[in-house]
Amino acid sequence: MNIDHIEIAGFKSLARLKLEQLKPYSVFAGPNGSGKSNLMDALAFVSTVIELGAVKAIRKFRGFSQIHCYKLRKNNTRTFEFDIHATMNGQKLTYGLKIHEMDTSPLLEEKLTVAGKPVLIRKKGEVPTLIKEDGTQSLVEGFPSDVSALMFTQGLVPLYHYLTNVQVFRFDPMGAKEPDGSSADATELDSHGHNVATMLASLEKEAEFRAQVTDWMTLLVPGMEQVHTAPERLSGGTVIKFKELGIKPHFPANLISDGTIYALCIMTAVLSRSSGYGITLIEEPERGIHPKGIEALADLMRDKASPEHPVFVTTHSESLVRASRIDELWLVNKLDGKTVAKNAATHSAGIGQLNLDTAWLMNLFDGGLPW
Ligand SMILES: Nc1ncnc2c1ncn2[C@@H]1O[C@H](COP(=O)(O)OP(=O)(O)O)[C@@H](O)[C@H]1O
Ligand SMILES: [Mg+2]
Repeated sequence: MNIDHIEIAGFKSLARLKLEQLKPYSVFAGPNGSGKSNLMDALAFVSTVIELGAVKAIRKFRGFSQIHCYKLRKNNTRTFEFDIHATMNGQKLTYGLKIHEMDTSPLLEEKLTVAGKPVLIRKKGEVPTLIKEDGTQSLVEGFPSDVSALMFTQGLVPLYHYLTNVQVFRFDPMGAKEPDGSSADATELDSHGHNVATMLASLEKEAEFRAQVTDWMTLLVPGMEQVHTAPERLSGGTVIKFKELGIKPHFPANLISDGTIYALCIMTAVLSRSSGYGITLIEEPERGIHPKGIEALADLMRDKASPEHPVFVTTHSESLVRASRIDELWLVNKLDGKTVAKNAATHSAGIGQLNLDTAWLMNLFDGGLPW
């Protein structure tokens, strides 16, 4: 599923943001406060709306007054909009979602088309209409007005699976170093990476996963030979252990560098998630990592990203910008309080043979100065 177009309107600084032709691995670079995290949150918000309904999603994102775009206050707009156009197995797919009256009782409006034909139509606040291939229509009577009807289209297209499996990761290496309690969840890596030890313990049972983690870790961290988990005798929890070249005892996570733990969290997220439909969003994957390591991480993320499961990252790092391909790089900026983003490939006139990071720092992308 290649994303041809994404449009988000009415979420924090995203008054209206359009992104065209997103690559499965995309890098969003820009100054502090330009709206990179807001974009990640907006995608997670859409996911929550589709999975749990608008009322719960608005609550989870701390209420209307937090997420509503300040720039739209004057216009009295209380609507959130999301549009996606994608190509899947050569077939065009469009889905539009609007949440009206977000501040009081949210009412959904939705439309899904497959190969130009509408398959789900729902007018503002009405019950959804499902349209079969032969044209017969059925109403979903009694359906809640704030809950998405995309779930009814699961048998037709995988968009529901794709959009409900969106996870933003903001890793916290200090928390990730702590041993996991025995009650830690092993089904999903949490957004701060605090259950990374438990996740690894569960995933390393697969030989292929174990081999991939070892390969990537040895590439990222000079002298690293092996990463594995072990049960902790006293607490019954799980600890991560590291075997380094020339040193017999295995180090526990708390003696390992923050950057190494951070890289391990990113690897676990990407390797564990990339097989199913979904979107993985990683904030600032460069933290504490050597420029060469960042290059290796970019290769890993690009390698594992696919049209079925894109990996989008935000960054301030020259190294990560340099390790991007020009059409993977998005320059994010805020103009008049509104987030804007442009693809580097369409603004690359004049950069010649320069590295991407040099061009970025020299503001050769036509106004996308990062600071
Ligand atoms: N409800 C809102 N309406 C408009 N702008 C907002 C809203 N909430 C936050 N912002 C803007 O978003 C900025 C933070 O954006 P963020 O995405 O966290 O930046 P970064 O690009 O550094 O990740 C704030 O400085 C503020 O200007
Ligand atoms: Mg941010």
